[in-house]
Amino acid sequence: MVDIIYGKAVAERIRADLGGSIDTLKEEGVTPGLATVLMSDDPASETYVSMKQRDCEEVGIESIHVEIDPDAPASELYDTIDELNDDHEVHGILVQMPVPEHVDSRRVLRAIDPTKDADGFHPENVGMLVAGHPRFKPCTPHGVQKLLDSANVDPEGKDVVIVGRSNIVGKPLANLLVQKADGGNATVTVCHSRTADLAAKTRNADVVVAACGVPELVDGSMLSDGVTVIDVGVNRVDADTDKGYELVGDVEFESAKEKASAITPVPGGVGPMTRAMLLYNTVKAAGIQEEIEVELP
Ligand code: GUN
Repeated sequence: MVDIIYGKAVAERIRADLGGSIDTLKEEGVTPGLATVLMSDDPASETYVSMKQRDCEEVGIESIHVEIDPDAPASELYDTIDELNDDHEVHGILVQMPVPEHVDSRRVLRAIDPTKDADGFHPENVGMLVAGHPRFKPCTPHGVQKLLDSANVDPEGKDVVIVGRSNIVGKPLANLLVQKADGGNATVTVCHSRTADLAAKTRNADVVVAACGVPELVDGSMLSDGVTVIDVGVNRVDADTDKGYELVGDVEFESAKEKASAITPVPGGVGPMTRAMLLYNTVKAAGIQEEIEVELP
């Protein structure tokens, strides 16, 4: 029987545990605060940001939201980041990506105070992760690591194939899973659009993580029996529904579940974990800045 890994339930447990860490901070007179910055009118980005704000409110994190017109000069975004860096009530800052073309996204990431970098995308934090002593683990890779743990899949000694090499998921996940640390010690292969024979790689994997943004790229024929499949993809595809679209992952769920021993659904798999780990990083950031020791789940 295949084990369906419901990230929603795991995320709820993490959120509940984070409640205890937030209480510790509040006993010391500190309310953790997360600033979300949106410079986009993309409906998916708007939805993601509003879900992040709601998550904060539910667990007792102060949510500060800044919206910037996507046609405004880039300096407006850089100035906003400077102000949030100086605001002592803001412990975490997240600028929803992608930003408009006229904005230098690398400058945006560098502008965020690295101790407030709730995404873990600042070059200093990327370096700490690569060097093996992460400060803020990027939210989706951290969520994947927690999901594997919840399904009792220890990456140690396993062949993990990651499909996708983005800075948000593929690359940081490879760095996390290869670390000499609990939840790491895997042999990691990172595949991408130029990989010569993708199916040959995925068929050799004990764990396949699909994070390439191509709807249903990975199907059951590319998997071996007993594999663990983590589907990071969230793709809107045209469908005859009220909204005119449906969400599918980067994995063809129906054929993949015939091969897998464990698999995440879309939606309800990795997505809720990403959001929970953002709250985790915000609480961690508050502890670092306020010099309060907080236990984290
Ligand atoms: N856009 C898509 N995923 C992410 C994410 O994890 N963080 C930010 N800031 N933007 C995103």
